[in-house]
Amino acid sequence: MSDTVEAVPMFERLGGAVVIDRLVEAFYRRMDTLAEAEGIRAMHADDLSQTKHVLKRYLTEWTGGPKLYSVEKGHPRLRQRHMGFAIGNGERDAWLLCMRGALEETVADAAARDEVYGAMAKLADWMRNTAGNPHDTAGHAARP
Ligand code: HEM
Repeated sequence: MSDTVEAVPMFERLGGAVVIDRLVEAFYRRMDTLAEAEGIRAMHADDLSQTKHVLKRYLTEWTGGPKLYSVEKGHPRLRQRHMGFAIGNGERDAWLLCMRGALEETVADAAARDEVYGAMAKLADWMRNTAGNPHDTAGHAARP
């Protein structure tokens, strides 16, 4: 009975490499087609193949699968890598809308889906870099 659900890495619970692949495809398909995602789609390159490749490798590693991202790109420094894009509540919500739908489409295990979505929502919150994100002003004097 030591084989608890918690002992199984999220990567396996989601369905492994095949499902991560489908998830990222479904995510960018939504970003390409949903009206709510037009703004964040415009931040990305026209050709999404490289972006898909990187997100697949990142999510593989982040969920406890093989460390495919850091061998190519080093430490994620994800917030820093997003600084070139203005991300506020609207951009976060659009990103999460695409991800929620993609998870529902591709991940069969509802508990795994909700757990990974919760963790992504926290990351997406943290990625905000326009006025209103407490991370930007922490430790600094407030500016008008
Ligand atoms: C909150 C809203 C977000 C927006 C608007 C956003 C937007 C972007 C954009 C425009 C890029 C550059 C893509 C390109 O070069 O074509 C990017 C890269 C990336 N994003 Fe996001 N992102 C968001 C949240 C997230 C979250 C929550 C994650 C992780 C779960 C994530 C993971 C990544 C990764 C891994 C890359 C590639 C970084 C690299 O080059 O190493 N993003 N994002």
